[in-house]
Amino acid sequence: MKAFVAGATGETGRRIVQELIARNIPVRALVRDVETARAVLPAEAELVEGDVLKPESLTAVLGDSTVLLCATGAKPSFDPTGPYKIDLEGTKNLVDVAKTKGIEHFVFVSSLCTSQLFHPLNLFWLILVWKKQAEEYIQKSGLTYTIVRPGGLKNEDNTDAIVMQSADTLFDGSIPRQKVAQVCVESLSQPAARNKIVEIVAKSEATSKSFGELFANVA
Ligand SMILES: NC(=O)c1ccc[n+]([C@@H]2O[C@H](COP(=O)([O-])OP(=O)(O)OC[C@H]3O[C@@H](n4cnc5c(N)ncnc54)[C@H](OP(=O)(O)O)[C@@H]3O)[C@@H](O)[C@H]2O)c1
Repeated sequence: MKAFVAGATGETGRRIVQELIARNIPVRALVRDVETARAVLPAEAELVEGDVLKPESLTAVLGDSTVLLCATGAKPSFDPTGPYKIDLEGTKNLVDVAKTKGIEHFVFVSSLCTSQLFHPLNLFWLILVWKKQAEEYIQKSGLTYTIVRPGGLKNEDNTDAIVMQSADTLFDGSIPRQKVAQVCVESLSQPAARNKIVEIVAKSEATSKSFGELFANVA
């Protein structure tokens, strides 16, 4: 297995890279600026420069990767097209190139509540709408996928247990990015994670379960 990580310099993406490397999975990290990326990514990661909005830059950089994890995201800004471009068009570009390159598993970091149009997060230029459309594009692509919908992301890890449920059943809560990264990387080796949407949060009062159990409990 060789993993291609889009959004590798991001707060979640860099943790995905670390999780992959900790499991001895070779990583090709898509970055927009190699010099900046070197400061945040482990030396073991191979850095390749590209932009999800420039599909012509993606085919070559995907190289011999066999799985793809996408943790890109639009930064809050006054550009109303930001989430549309990054979360939808950028993801579609990655899906298209993943298909041509025969990628075996596509993991996408989405969000809780993508099915809710009247959600306050949609005040950020309809971000949940575009994420939902990206999810549907992945689902229709024919690729094997796992769509991971986390609650509010936190940088600090904790000892809370991961709660994992089916699509459109969790509506609030938060989760450390480290745990999101673990779920993404685990999904690559868990047969029960294939072609599923999983919603995740972390709760101190929840019972800790193995990743096998967590994925198997999701319809
Ligand atoms: N914040 C929350 O509470 C929350 C909750 C649920 C879900 N989510 C979602 O979770 C995902 C990860 O969030 P995060 O806060 O960890 O991400 P983040 O730190 O904002 O990182 C975003 C990443 O996307 C990359 N990126 C942006 N535009 C790109 C482009 N055109 N081409 C290539 N890469 C590009 C950035 O690269 P640069 O470093 O070059 O800018 C960065 O690596 C996002 O999709 C977010 O919407 C967030």
